[in-house]
Amino acid sequence: MQHAVIMAGGSGTRLWPLSRASRPKQLLDVVTTPDGGAHSLLAEAFERLEKVLPAERIWVCTAARYADAVRAALPRLRADRLVLEPMARDTANAVGLSAALVADVDPDADLAVVSADHVIRPVQRFADALRTAYAALAERPRALVTLGITPTSPATGFGYVQRGAATATAGVAEAASFREKPDRATAEQYLASGEYLWNSGMFVWRAGTVLDALAEHLPETADGLRRIVAAPAGPARDAVLAEVFPTLPKISVDYAVLEPAATEPGRVLVVDLDVDWLDVGSWPALAHTLAVDGDGNAVRGLTVLLDASGNVVLSDDPEHLVALVGVRDSIVVHTADVTMVCPVTDAERVKALLAEVEQRY
Ligand code: GDD
Ligand code: MG
Repeated sequence: MQHAVIMAGGSGTRLWPLSRASRPKQLLDVVTTPDGGAHSLLAEAFERLEKVLPAERIWVCTAARYADAVRAALPRLRADRLVLEPMARDTANAVGLSAALVADVDPDADLAVVSADHVIRPVQRFADALRTAYAALAERPRALVTLGITPTSPATGFGYVQRGAATATAGVAEAASFREKPDRATAEQYLASGEYLWNSGMFVWRAGTVLDALAEHLPETADGLRRIVAAPAGPARDAVLAEVFPTLPKISVDYAVLEPAATEPGRVLVVDLDVDWLDVGSWPALAHTLAVDGDGNAVRGLTVLLDASGNVVLSDDPEHLVALVGVRDSIVVHTADVTMVCPVTDAERVKALLAEVEQRY
């Protein structure tokens, strides 16, 4: 059967101070809905999958401390489809744990892995690409399939997949190589060559296939996962999970599995995902989900701007007005306990700012 799991355990530090350890970005109501309301990126990811799968085959993997917030955001998520990690150990372990638990209920499951922090339009094209990726597994059951996006800049925060030979499934190519987060010069070469797609961070594979790939490339994780699922579901398994999971090597699935697997000819496949795609990883990206005024200011909440342009301005406190005059290309975010100001060009440094704040307070 076809299943999917949403990876929803990231911390979203570059969206501080709106995104907090206690409430990370995927759980914030930042996406404007057609009816003028707002919902979370996680709710959006769940609804996107519901175009292809029934709710009972959609799983969510997140840190245990977000369990209540996830249940509240997703009324249709089945109680036994929530995979809870004792702590974040990055996506190789999150994907592995999810695959092991899915395989435990359905050993032949085809499993899609999707991110919780994307805005994708139109949704119908995502649904078509996902169906194509599942179909590719019928032809090549051992494949690791990634959904690829046509790159628009030499971004260094993404993975890059090199398109190789076509396969028998329309819209699916073999990946000639995979490189996670290259440096700027390499990313520029990739973009200029026209041969590379961005890895969307969304994958489709048999649950058993990704577990085999982990056994090959990350044996410590594979051994740990075997010990976890060997225990009967319930308190016994939770106890092993709490003991073993924190010891697993912290690494993403892109570095741990995709990079090495792509050196094996024909093992990694790529499906073209031809959509408007936004990884909501930083303030300028989040600005695309907000209302924009005639001067290019993305604003939310109680704000007044005079002779100001290119700013991202957000007040998260309904009683607190943020007012700007003569300010250009700046990010101003006010929350109940923190006000953060930085030039748009320094948006990537918010992570470092948060680290500094954490050291002092
Ligand atoms: N459950 C769980 N546990 N989820 C996690 C964890 C974890 O420890 N760490 C991250 N996630 C979730 C995030 O919430 C997000 O939905 C997804 O996994 C991807 O993690 P990111 O931390 O956002 O990864 P990235 O953006 O640096 O890189 C990935 O995504 C890019 C596209 O957005 C890679 O797959 C890149 O290759 C890709 O280009
Ligand atoms: Mg991301």
